[in-house]
Amino acid sequence: MADGLRKGLTSYGDAGFSLFLRKAFIKAMGYSDDALNRPIVGITNTYSDYNPCHGNVPQIIEAVKRGVMLSGAMPFVFPTISIAESFAHPTSMYLRNLMAMDTEEMIRAQPMDAVVVIGGCDKTLPAQIMAAISADLPTVVIPVGPMVVGHHKGEVLGACTDCRRLWGKYRAGEIDDNEIEAVNGRLAPSVGTCMVMGTASTMACITEALGLSLPMSATIPAPHAERFRSAEASGLVAAEMAKTRGPKPSEILTPSSFRNAQVVMQAIGGSTNGLIHLTAIANRSPHKIDLEAFDKLGREVPVLVDLKPSGEHYMEHFHHAGGVPKLMAQLGDLIDLDAKTITGQTLREVVANAEDVPGQDAIRSKANPIKSEGAMAILHGNLAPRGAVIKHSAASPKLLQHTGRAVVFESVEDMTLRVDDPALDVTADDVLVLRNAGPKGAPGMPEAGYLPIPKKLARAGVKDMVRISDARMSGTAFGTIVLHITPESAVGGPLGLVRNGDMIRLDVAKRSIDLLVDEAELQKRRAALAPAGTPDWAKRGYAHLFNETILQADEGCDFDFMRAKGK
Ligand code: FES
Ligand code: MG
Repeated sequence: MADGLRKGLTSYGDAGFSLFLRKAFIKAMGYSDDALNRPIVGITNTYSDYNPCHGNVPQIIEAVKRGVMLSGAMPFVFPTISIAESFAHPTSMYLRNLMAMDTEEMIRAQPMDAVVVIGGCDKTLPAQIMAAISADLPTVVIPVGPMVVGHHKGEVLGACTDCRRLWGKYRAGEIDDNEIEAVNGRLAPSVGTCMVMGTASTMACITEALGLSLPMSATIPAPHAERFRSAEASGLVAAEMAKTRGPKPSEILTPSSFRNAQVVMQAIGGSTNGLIHLTAIANRSPHKIDLEAFDKLGREVPVLVDLKPSGEHYMEHFHHAGGVPKLMAQLGDLIDLDAKTITGQTLREVVANAEDVPGQDAIRSKANPIKSEGAMAILHGNLAPRGAVIKHSAASPKLLQHTGRAVVFESVEDMTLRVDDPALDVTADDVLVLRNAGPKGAPGMPEAGYLPIPKKLARAGVKDMVRISDARMSGTAFGTIVLHITPESAVGGPLGLVRNGDMIRLDVAKRSIDLLVDEAELQKRRAALAPAGTPDWAKRGYAHLFNETILQADEGCDFDFMRAKGK
């Protein structure tokens, strides 16, 4: 009997009887002793009818099982939670830590020598990786892959950068009901994750840079045959890991690998959500993401990948141009090539095998970047004592230094009710402020930071305004948008002190975001704030756990008790 099945054999008294019982039950599935005597590879099934992004998971699982069995090991598939962005109430972020706990505990609970975790839609890769690091069993991560692009009237469409752009046109009266319906059927033309550089793509690229998945696995389109061959190869790698008991995530992940992930995140024009997730992932290990160091890297690392929303192309073009290995090759000495990967190769070997694709223009060289600085910057100031983030690669250059009058929305509901009111006192030079939309406030830090341009301004041709909040934003969105203001207003952060008409100054070059109100007045306002009690939604169940233990954005929004020991 392989050690795998012996794991945790104390449940029924003596170990011999426990194994006897365990085998008796599992044999009900029709397994032979030969099958059960093999090293075991667990495979997480994150398929759900509610999750179109994971629509290819059954086929991926079949391919992984094939790879595991070709290598003489035994696959065991088990379900974990699946989270799709559009069906996760109140937010997918609210559920990420639940998924991470579920996966971690099921890895621990069941006998397996290695595990393959499958994720893709925004929160699922982070959740699976957080779980894998905490469980610290040899792990192969498989992203489900991006959708292929859609087409509409000769234009290429991508979910969901073009969802927002075309909805904006519809709001502005530029396209009619019939056309928006047609667009609706074309934005997501296949299973897989959003094919722009949103959170899902960002996390898949980061996973590859961390060395936790196979080369090219971030970018292969979800429906392509290559996706399933890569899954089969992942199964082979996982079987080897099961036989040799390594390497574990703790043996792969080093400060260098986390630095490489941050370099890649900046160079791809990655989603701001990626920063929260990478922070949470690092906090499950002995390592850490330092926001100052991340900002400094942003000044050194150019954006090289020409993908929406910062650039022009889509994930399949990035893939055909050579994917993450080619990007890392272009980044040269910004990447530590000695970093290890799950296959036993270093990144040096991965990069050496990167394909050269003549004429491709999705991955630029350092000499010809999309932007000379990285995608994201970290801001501080009296409005954000513990930081805020802006994806300046997707912002309007003329608004990166801007002072304007605050127009405050108390909550997401308040914003929804009033933003289009023709009587709203707002001009294009104002700063839209949204609060009570942070990790605790909303709860679950909704992607509401992309406040819509008030209808009357949109109709007048206004495309962008400075918008600030303690919320998150979809990585697929475009605009001069300050996010993750920390601490959030619901825990007493200064965002809660802003009043309509106050002046707010954003200066991205100086990395500052300030409320131009003197400290004595702010003190007065602070003293007048009502103390926050436990809100009704948080009185029981998971909501209670969430409300009591959720960390702020600068700490990755994990639960405080889930961090690695000593953190
Ligand atoms: Fe699942 Fe975009 S909605 S990746
Ligand atoms: Mg998203």
